[in-house]
Order: sequence, then structure tokens, then C-alpha cells
Amino acid sequence: MPHRFAVPLSRRALLRAGGAAVAATALGGTGLAAPDAGALKTGLAGPAPVAAAGELVEVELIAKQRMQRILPEPADPSPLITYADRFPGPIIRMRKGQRLRATLVNGLDEHTSIHWHGIRLPNLEDGVPYLTQPPTKPGERHVYEFTPPDAGSFFFHPHCNTVELLGRGLAGILIVEEPDAPKFDADVVCLVKDWQLDKTGKFGAFITDRGAARAGTFGSLSTVNGAIDPVIEVPANGDIRARLYNIDSTRVVDLRVEGAEAWIIAVDGNPLPPRPLDGWPMGPAMRIDVLFRAPAKAGQTLRLTNVYSAEPKPLATFRAVGPGLPNKRFKPRALPASAIPEPDLKDAPIIPMAFSATAVAQSFDAAALPGLPYADALCLSAKTFWAINQQSWPEGGHERLPPPLVTLEKGRSYIFELANLTPHLHPIHIHGYTFKVLSSDSRKVVPHHADTVLLEPKERLRVAIKADNPGDWMFHCHIIEHQDTGMMGYIRVA
Ligand code: C2O
Ligand code: CU
Repeated sequence: MPHRFAVPLSRRALLRAGGAAVAATALGGTGLAAPDAGALKTGLAGPAPVAAAGELVEVELIAKQRMQRILPEPADPSPLITYADRFPGPIIRMRKGQRLRATLVNGLDEHTSIHWHGIRLPNLEDGVPYLTQPPTKPGERHVYEFTPPDAGSFFFHPHCNTVELLGRGLAGILIVEEPDAPKFDADVVCLVKDWQLDKTGKFGAFITDRGAARAGTFGSLSTVNGAIDPVIEVPANGDIRARLYNIDSTRVVDLRVEGAEAWIIAVDGNPLPPRPLDGWPMGPAMRIDVLFRAPAKAGQTLRLTNVYSAEPKPLATFRAVGPGLPNKRFKPRALPASAIPEPDLKDAPIIPMAFSATAVAQSFDAAALPGLPYADALCLSAKTFWAINQQSWPEGGHERLPPPLVTLEKGRSYIFELANLTPHLHPIHIHGYTFKVLSSDSRKVVPHHADTVLLEPKERLRVAIKADNPGDWMFHCHIIEHQDTGMMGYIRVA
């Protein structure tokens, strides 16, 4: 039976739902929890809390194992690891200008942290164990506090043992709403994620040598919002903002809304002039905001499909409900521009970043490395297959902090030339910054901003930043097995 996600029919309903969702989040980290399984209500669509700009949004995120059914019976519920009572959750919605205070409670039997993916925040809040904070041990709490400078569709996840934790569902959504966005009739979140489950509902291996050294280990089951081919209700004839997330660890998707004219209005949360949704491959961690018109009559449907495969794969169904809103002709509308500092390209040095396989696969035992202050067996895989500028994480003798890939001068602008020397795709992610995507030697690039860019095999892609945010910032592939087996480093801005 497909799960259903009800979406309120009017903006007023949305606001009420939003307030309730956030209040619940603040109480127990359960902003999304619905009393009966599969009947998630408005949490998926509820927007800003009813609080003025400048106020504090407080959430508690208890990371722990929770049983949840992903496969239908007779399979068993699966031992997910989540920040809220149910996957997907929580979805934190706040308004630009508000401050977030999020308390991580570590209910796992391993250390962890929260990385706020895509947010240009102070380095101390970035959530990378050993690099920006001590790991949060089992039973401990850690408080993150920051004011997101940009509106957009973001998410958060751990940064060690990510292959298992994210594989079992440990991710949450952070939506920062524009105070001045155009009006939409509904705002839905679609999280695309595969699960590595056997027929009985047990998890299988999240990492394999074979996968890690190639395109990654793929899950066995595709879902949206943790449900197999769910039905997502949308107001008939409404203008729908759908925040499409690829939160899988491995798979690249290229999404379509079959049956509707759909427009991309933001990439990784960053607005761009609306463009038709007709070919925007997304690697792990990449997001797009899409605008489409729901069918005019209740009961009519549209399909969300992934066309990045031999045959288009249906992922979810949008079904129109309600009396049909009185909207006129459909027009895409742009979101208000973000205020990402503009790099000064004339003055920008070009920094080469080469993504390659290691010459020889290396093995080591991270747990047996005395005095390594920087990593442990949870943060590093026992093998390295990949490198950035021929440097694998960790490097050489492992007994000291690896040097940064590059040190940048604070305030200066830089162009990274990302060179993919491999026959595989790599979604390359920077912490604390948003790339301005400039040009490619192998395809026409749509000017846009992104925190994660998908490098095609053998491609050279140029991206730029203004290095205004000091600190040590991770720079890595977001295919988690590649990250864990060496395609990871950091840049220093000082
Ligand atoms: Cu989602 Cu280091 O990243
Ligand atoms: Cu990669």
C-alpha cells in the first residue's frame, strides 16, 4: 500500500501546520512524527514557524536507532538510525534571519556530530569531528548555534561512519524560507534515497571494496520519503514547490515530473532564473527546487520519475486533491536572489584540484595508529582507493594531521579547476562555501551556485569562491564510499 502525504490546501492551513510542526520539533525532535505509520500529515509541507525574524528556533536531535517499516510485510521493520521518531525527519523549517539552536543528543554507541550541509556558517559549527570539534561521545550532547545567511533547501548528517549512519537513515532536513518568496499553493519535500535491505528487512553491507573502488555500492530499494512509490497529495490546479533532494549515498538521479511543465527555480537552495526541468543530473547530496502546476481535477496524477537509468523509473505519484484552485495560466516565477559574495574573477588564482584513483590501493589500520589526532576507524575506511591532488586522507605515515589541500588568503577570490581523472562520476562538495559554477571543458554550463557539483568522467569544471569565511573546510566527494576511501581533504582559509 503506498503511503500518503497530505498537503494542506491553503497557505493559511500551511502556516498553522508549520507552527505545530516546529513546536513539536522543539519539544522532542519529532517535528515529523505522525501518530500512525505512513500517515505523515503536514510536517512535510508545513512552512515557517510563527515567529518573527530574529527569534531563536530550538530543536533537539536525538540520534539513535529506531525500528521503522520500510519494506511491506512479511518483512520486518528495519533498524533505522534517525534524529527523530520517524524517517524522514525532522524537517526543520525556519525563516531567513532566524537563529537555529540545535542540540545533538548522542544516543548511539559510537561518537558522532552533525554537519550542516550547504550552510555558510562559522567553522566551529560545521560539525566535522577532529577538524572543527571534538567528537560527541555516546551519551553526550553538543549544541550548534548559527543564523543561516541564505534561504534554501539544506540538510544535515553525520561526518564519520557516514556510510553506515546515512545508509540507515541518519539525515534531517533544514529549510530556510525566503521572507519575500512568491506565493506557492503547497511546498512539498521529496527525499530520494535507496536502502540496502534484504528481503527480511535487515541491512546488508553499506560498503564493498568492489563498489568503493568504482561507482559505489547501490542500495536494493528506491524510496521517496522512506516509502516505496508513495502518493503525495497536492492541491488541484495549485502551484507546487517541490524540494527534490538526493540524499542517497551512491546513486545519481535525473528527475522529471512526467505530465506537467516543471521548472527548476533553485539548485542546492540557490535561486537561478527558472529553467525547464529537462536534464539536471543530481549526485548524492544535490538538491533542486522545482515549480509545477498540479493537475486541474481531483484524482488526476503526475509521476515523479528518475530517468538516469536505461528505463525511466517511477519514484512517486503526485495526486491532485480538493476543489481546484482558481489559478490562471501557469508561469514560472523566480525566487529572490541570494547574497552569496561575488568572487572577483579577474584577480582570482586558479587552484587545480585533481580527483583520481590512488596509484595503488592502500591498506592500514586506523585504530592501531598511535597519536593520530585526526581520525579513527569510524572516520576512515581501512582502505584507500581515491585521492585529491594525489593526496589521500589520511596521507603517508598517518601519525599527524594531513596538511590542507591548499591555504587560501581570507578575502581573496579563487577559481578551483576540478579535474576528474577517472571514468566515474563524482559529486564534489565544499563545506562553508557555495561555489559559483563557471565553465566546463566538455559541456555548456548553466551559470548557477551550488555547494555540490557533479563532475562527469574526465571533465574539467571551473568553480569560484570568495574566500571570506575563515577556517578549515572539508572538500570531498559525496559518494560516501569515495569520501571514506580517500577522496577527501580540506582547504584552509586564513
Ligand atoms: Cu554533506 Cu562533508 O558533507
Ligand atoms: Cu566520488
